[in-house]
Amino acid sequence: MKLSVNIGKLKLKNPVMVASGTFGYAGEFAGFIDINKLGAIVTKTITLKPRPGNPAPRTCETPAGMLNAIGLENPGADAFLKEKLPALNKIGIPVIASIAAETPGELKEIINLLNDAQVNAIELNLSCPNVKSLQSTISGSPLIAQDAQATHNWVRAVRKATRKTIIAKLSPNVADIAEIALAAQRAGADAVSLINTITAMSIDTKTRRPVLANITGGLSGPAVRPVAVRMVWEAYQKIKVPIIGMGGIMDVQSALEFFIAGASAINIGTANFINPRASIEIISGLKQYLKENKIKDINNLIGSLRT
Ligand SMILES: Cc1cc2nc3c(=O)[nH]c(=O)nc-3n(C[C@H](O)[C@H](O)[C@H](O)COP(=O)(O)O)c2cc1C
Repeated sequence: MKLSVNIGKLKLKNPVMVASGTFGYAGEFAGFIDINKLGAIVTKTITLKPRPGNPAPRTCETPAGMLNAIGLENPGADAFLKEKLPALNKIGIPVIASIAAETPGELKEIINLLNDAQVNAIELNLSCPNVKSLQSTISGSPLIAQDAQATHNWVRAVRKATRKTIIAKLSPNVADIAEIALAAQRAGADAVSLINTITAMSIDTKTRRPVLANITGGLSGPAVRPVAVRMVWEAYQKIKVPIIGMGGIMDVQSALEFFIAGASAINIGTANFINPRASIEIISGLKQYLKENKIKDINNLIGSLRT
């Protein structure tokens, strides 16, 4: 039974990764699971300079999901490379560095740092909905990934600056996800990741205040899954590069929906907070499903939707 998949130059022993921002820097989860069984780890998004993130409260529960407005809290690229990356490398699975930048200059600097570092791929976060400073400086649209031309420009800039595998992380807060995915592909992305969180809000009716200090946040978890599956399917029909699907994957059944819709690999996000073993259980569940259905290679399941 073959579970391995290729994402650009990246070879994954299985297609199950943990999603950016939901797995810390792996150490927190070491006591719970054999991290080296994962296909890869995607880091929390790193920016050139450290960021404190947004004021609290930054998360809350919602029906079948959660809101977060962390605001890309991270120690900055230098501290990441010196203090976090060595431990991640010791795990022995590919490390995908998620990055964001406020200006093209910063983007170039962070890529240069990563070019010399032991990271296997770069996920370009074009879609974080909770960071105002990143939103307004980058393009006319609130998020880069809401604008096909801006998406093209940013992916192109990264393509010119690195030979590493580039994954463009896209936003569901758009009218036509396939158009944005196509722009990323044309600019040289080796893969696209979708979806990031859906912009949303909750109100405390006693105080009439927003629950999150940031007022709005990003919705994730099972509530977003049908939107994510639909977007993977739409993008799959338009683009040739692999799609990394995510959004509310909690168990093997929900993971399977993404492969059938067209995802070559998946990320597990919010599920990590409820069941730290979810990703490992999904890997064994996938093996079991392939065996039961006499499918020799997971690549034969990808995009196998019958309509
Ligand atoms: C607490 C939290 C923090 C997140 N931080 C990031 C981040 O730093 N960069 C990023 O690209 N996505 C981030 N995400 C989005 C996830 O990677 C993922 O795209 C999204 O949550 C949908 O998947 P899920 O429903 O399985 O969580 C974050 C999500 C959560 C819940």
